[in-house]
Amino acid sequence: MADIDGAAETKDFHLDIPARNEAFFLKGSGALDWGIQNRLSRIFNPMSGKTVMLAIDHGYFQGPTTGLERVDVNIVPLVPYADALMLTRGILRSSIPSSCRNGIVLRASGGPSILKELSNENIALDMEDAVRLNACAVAVQVFVGGEFETQSIHNLTRLVDAGNRHGVAVLGVTAVGKTLTRDAKYLRLAVCICAELGAHIVKTYYCPEGFETVAASCPVPLVMAGGKKLPELDALKMAANAVNEGASGVDMGRNIFQSESPVAMIQAVGKVVHEGMKPEHAYEFFQTLKHDKKVEAPVGR
Ligand code: R5P
Repeated sequence: MADIDGAAETKDFHLDIPARNEAFFLKGSGALDWGIQNRLSRIFNPMSGKTVMLAIDHGYFQGPTTGLERVDVNIVPLVPYADALMLTRGILRSSIPSSCRNGIVLRASGGPSILKELSNENIALDMEDAVRLNACAVAVQVFVGGEFETQSIHNLTRLVDAGNRHGVAVLGVTAVGKTLTRDAKYLRLAVCICAELGAHIVKTYYCPEGFETVAASCPVPLVMAGGKKLPELDALKMAANAVNEGASGVDMGRNIFQSESPVAMIQAVGKVVHEGMKPEHAYEFFQTLKHDKKVEAPVGR
């Protein structure tokens, strides 16, 4: 019980200062509950409004992946430079230190391997386990135009219901089948469906023509998928273009962990995403870090 004998009589209620009512910093997220907003603030940096999410969930359908053979050796050194990690619960529990402060985005759909029809996914994670793992979001593939399109969309909507109940965000990942074209028309369709059906974040590929219309048609934060490994300068240009054209950051895997210097590359991507550094300058920064093996002190991690 607090000692009230010496309690000061004078109180200051700052009657001249109106109560603060700050708008939440992320697009389309102002009406979300406190818990989801707080979790989104651990994925997206509130200073820049952007994220560098490191995707390392590839093993869930394609097995051992170049660069991810030893997450403890190859990936843990990158963790301080990522805002968020997108991964499976198996890798999180087995290989990522629980002292990490990154936003955790857990893979929540799965089923088929690369040997089968990839769109035939089910929900592969209970929201209760996501909460137990302190996840900020769960990620689900949505195969618009794919053989199991409806099933994958139901996976999304069921996770959105569970996520809203528990205060966990849902990242809808637009998975583009091999026979579909990754152009603005298709991406607008896929992105819009994810957001309309309740995804709190949407992930999609960059397209050189019309990406700004894809971003504009997405009412919630859109993050750019990395895709196959490119030369570092090209990957930095793609990230810069996506952010300049409306993306709220990137969710990149192979273009970071398959780089000649992953620790330098993730920092260069961070410069482009958070500081708006020109890709050519970020590439010079990458080269310097790579050759000097210098490691910048991570900010806020
Ligand atoms: C999407 O299909 C999965 O989340 C991938 O494992 C991941 O997003 C791929 O990342 P990236 O294409 O940048 O290597």
